[in-house]
This record gives sequence, structure tokens and C-alpha cells, in this order.
Amino acid sequence: ADPLIVTLDGPAGVGKSTMAKRLARELSIPYLDTGAMFRAVAWRLGDGAWERGDARLTVDLAGMEFSLSGIGEDSVLSLDGVPIGDEVRSEQVAMWASNIAVLPVVRASLKAAQQTLGQRFSLVAEGRDMGSVVFPAARCKFFLDATADERARRRLRQLAGMGKTADFDELREQIARRDHQDRNRAEAPLKPAPDAVIIDTTNLGQEQVFAALVRGIRG
Ligand code: C5P
Repeated sequence: ADPLIVTLDGPAGVGKSTMAKRLARELSIPYLDTGAMFRAVAWRLGDGAWERGDARLTVDLAGMEFSLSGIGEDSVLSLDGVPIGDEVRSEQVAMWASNIAVLPVVRASLKAAQQTLGQRFSLVAEGRDMGSVVFPAARCKFFLDATADERARRRLRQLAGMGKTADFDELREQIARRDHQDRNRAEAPLKPAPDAVIIDTTNLGQEQVFAALVRGIRG
């Protein structure tokens, strides 16, 4: 049978990763964190990569290979055989990721890598353009949303869980700036696919969001 693809898109800090892991566990398939792909490429290329020009970027990208193993929250995404880890989880690397994510050469390269993984594995694919661009024929598409305040609160809690602290106002401002860039870029902007189920999670707990997703898939 064809691989089952479920897409989960939405803005930063909305809880996509948490839900993608749980949903993938429920379905006994891997989850694909495509934000981690952009972050890992940004981390590898370093600060200012977006100013280096397409020719150089194309060569750098051609040498990178992603692989995926495991199921649910145990899914491991690797770049050139090395698992992508906490080194990419800062807001600074996220902003670098957003900066390279506007470049068509970068998007084309990662889209190809994502689609290759989607041919080999059933996936819960989370990101910004999974339902709209990368997997237009996905079986189920979801778009999670929440207010910027609520997303900053969730991100703060997530950071606390990793033993990190951050200033709330600064975090909200960083998230808002990154969303603005992601929503307004010319190519594959952050927006729901026409056939996506949109879930406003602002006033929902994790169990309620998860239940809505499961209903959407089984329904
Ligand atoms: O999801 P995460 O916050 O880790 O993504 C980091 C950045 O990568 C996003 O702000 C966005 O610019 C970019 N991205 C993207 N398309 C995706 C996933 C992430 O452009 N499918």
C-alpha cells in the first residue's frame, strides 16, 4: 500500500512537535520534524548563509543527506548520519532557519528530501508547508493555530522542561518576527492548505487537541 501521510502545519510554538510525536505513536509510524531539517541546514551553514549566493548554497546542499529511523517520539532524524540534537533548538538557530527558508534553492532541496522520505515511510509530517506544498495528496491535513501570547507561554514551558529559561516578552517578540517572515515569504508561505482541518488550540489542552486530531483521522 502507499505510505500514509498525515500533515501537521502551523506557526512556531503552537505544539506541533508534541502532537506529531503522539499521533505518530498512535499510528505506529515515524514523525518527520521538517523544522529540524531547516534548523540543521542553517546550523551547518552558519550565520549569514542566506547572503552567500545560490551557486555556493546549491553545492553545500547537494552534499547533505537526511535519514530517518524509529517510530513516534523515538523517531530519529539524522543529517549525514548524525542525529540532529539540541544544538539546533535555540531561537537564534530558528531565526537562521527562517532566513534560509525564504530561499528557493534551499526549499527545493529540502522538499525533495522530504518527498523522498515520504515515499519510503508512512509519516506524520510537521512544518509550515507540508499540506500546502510538499504533500498535497496527504490523506489527512491539519493546521494548528493559537495566539502569539499562548504560543510564547507554551515555548517558555517547553524550554523550562529542557532546563532553560527565557524572557517572556523577548520570546513572544522573536516568535512574532519569525512568523511574520514565514507568513510573508513568496515561496511556500505559512498558510493552511485549502483542504486542511484548522484547529484553534488557544483554549484547548493537549488532550483535547490530540482527541481532535484522532477524530480527524479516524472520522
Ligand atoms: O518548526 P520550527 O520552528 O523548528 O521551524 C524553524 C523554521 O524553519 C521556521 O520558522 C520556518 O522558517 C522554517 N520551516 C519552513 N518550512 C517547514 C518547516 C520549517 O520554512 N516545513
